[in-house]
Amino acid sequence: MGRKSLKPREGPSIREFLRYYVLLLLQKRPMSAEGMRRAIKRQSRENRDFRPSGPLAVGTRDLRLVLRQLRRRGLIQESQDKWRLTVSGQDTLSGYEKQKGASTNGKERAARKLLKLMGRARRGETVLDVGTGEGFMAFKLADRGYQVLGIDSGSFDYSKDSIRSAVEKVALHDGQVEFRGASVAELAKTGESFDYVVTSQAIHCMKDQGQCLEAICRLLKPGGVFLCIDFLVGLEGFLHHGWHSFLAISREEWQQLLPQYGFEAPRCQKAGDYLVVRARRRPTSRGSREK
Ligand SMILES: C[S@@+](CC[C@H](N)C(=O)[O-])C[C@H]1O[C@@H](n2cnc3c(N)ncnc32)[C@H](O)[C@@H]1O
Repeated sequence: MGRKSLKPREGPSIREFLRYYVLLLLQKRPMSAEGMRRAIKRQSRENRDFRPSGPLAVGTRDLRLVLRQLRRRGLIQESQDKWRLTVSGQDTLSGYEKQKGASTNGKERAARKLLKLMGRARRGETVLDVGTGEGFMAFKLADRGYQVLGIDSGSFDYSKDSIRSAVEKVALHDGQVEFRGASVAELAKTGESFDYVVTSQAIHCMKDQGQCLEAICRLLKPGGVFLCIDFLVGLEGFLHHGWHSFLAISREEWQQLLPQYGFEAPRCQKAGDYLVVRARRRPTSRGSREK
């Protein structure tokens, strides 16, 4: 990804978010389309420490399309280049706010989906859990008979404690699980390889997502499987995780990126406010970015 992400993000996931966010912006005051684009960029700027390629910018074409849709549905109206919310727009927004309050446990649902996709371990099968934190996925996988290595770069203050706590829990656990403090790029240099690489709610906080995908591919045996759960980019993801959900990779972006980084057969499934992604390392892939 890197610098390439500077281009505005677009596609169905972004439009789904926009259909909600435009109403939210117009609730405060009437605005021009350009004013909305600028406001979105400003709002997402707080994520700049995590996303080296810059804040979220939405494509003009997608925003225009969404404004037309909302006008057709009678939720907004335009006068003198400014858009405003109608009464039915306000009602629709209140409906979204109720949805926001509804509890979800998307992470557990997504984790169950991931485990189902993997099934029971065959003898000696190995898994790497990248960005393991306290070992949320690592322990579940060890329970199913996999030999698991969990790594974490300790990128944030809280995550330094997380990996320490994972190490402490190993003694209380029967399965084969080990933890190390390392970034995925560092581990890729060791030449180790695994049958599976999994990552749970971590891709969104990786500084260079492209570099991490490249490292993940290299850490898989040819034909090995990558599985990821992370925030859904779109309405449900935004309602439950706010701007952080925009650090995640959307369905459309996954479908584009995975083949570029040496994976094949990408598949994305929604699990509430999470997305479950599965892809295989191409048997012939060199484990580095391919054109
Ligand atoms: C939000 S936590 C998720 C922890 C755990 N997987 C879970 O599902 O609860 C994300 C973790 O990814 C780690 N991380 C970020 N970038 C990383 C990288 N390049 N290599 C390894 N770990 C990384 C962070 O230190 C953080 O602990």
